[in-house]
Amino acid sequence: MDDKFKQIKIKRAQKNDLKKIAEIASDCFSGLKNKKDAIKWIKCNFNAFPRMQYFVAKNQKEIAGYVLWMEKGGFRKESVFELEQIAIKKTFQGQGIGTQLVEKSLLEIKNYLKKRKSVLKLVEVTTGSENLAQNLYKKALGAKPECVVKNLFRGDEIIMIARYGK
Ligand SMILES: CC(C)(COP(=O)(O)OP(=O)(O)OC[C@H]1O[C@@H](n2cnc3c(N)ncnc32)[C@H](O)[C@@H]1OP(=O)(O)O)[C@@H](O)C(=O)NCCC(=O)NCCS
Repeated sequence: MDDKFKQIKIKRAQKNDLKKIAEIASDCFSGLKNKKDAIKWIKCNFNAFPRMQYFVAKNQKEIAGYVLWMEKGGFRKESVFELEQIAIKKTFQGQGIGTQLVEKSLLEIKNYLKKRKSVLKLVEVTTGSENLAQNLYKKALGAKPECVVKNLFRGDEIIMIARYGK
C-alpha cells in the first residue's frame, strides 16, 4: 500500500458525509447515476440505522469511499449481515483502501453486535461475475462463491458467503 494511505481512517458516516457518499455512488454505479436519486437512496439507507450502517474511509478530511452494511432477517442472536454496497472514489482505487474499509468496518459491526449480545454468523455479498471485487471479498472477508443468479442487474451476479463462528 502507498505510504500516503496508511493514515486512512475508517469512521461511521455522519449526516454531513451523505452528499459526498452520493457523489461517489453516482460515479461508480449505473443505477445511481442520477445525482438526485443517489442522494435519496443514500439518505433513506442512512435513516434506517441500525439495520443499515454506513462507514467511510477518510484520507485527512476527504472521503475516499464508503461501505454499507445491512442486517438481514431481524435482530438475531446469530446475526446475518450483507455487505450491500462499497465504492472507492476512482482516484483512490487499487491502493488497499477498499480492503481497509471492509476489514475495519467489519470489526465495528462485530463490536456493535457484541454490545447487543449477538454474534456474527455470516456475511453475504453479491457482485457481478466479471467484477474484480470478488478478490476483495475473498481477501477481506474470507467469502467464497456459493451460487450464481442469472441476469440480476446488468448480467449474472455471484453470491458469496463468509461463514464465521461455530
Ligand atoms: C471494488 C472496490 C471497492 C475495491 O476497492 P479498492 O480500494 O480499489 O480495493 P483494494 O485496493 O483494497 O484491492 C482489493 C482487491 O480488489 C480488487 N480491485 C482492485 N482495484 C479494483 C477496481 N478498480 N475495481 C474492482 N476491483 C478492484 C483487486 O483484485 C484487489 O485484490 P488484490 O490486491 O489481491 O489484487 C473499488 O475498486 C470500487 O469502488 N470499484 C467500483 C465500484 C464497485 O465495483 N463496487 C463493488 C460492487 S460489488
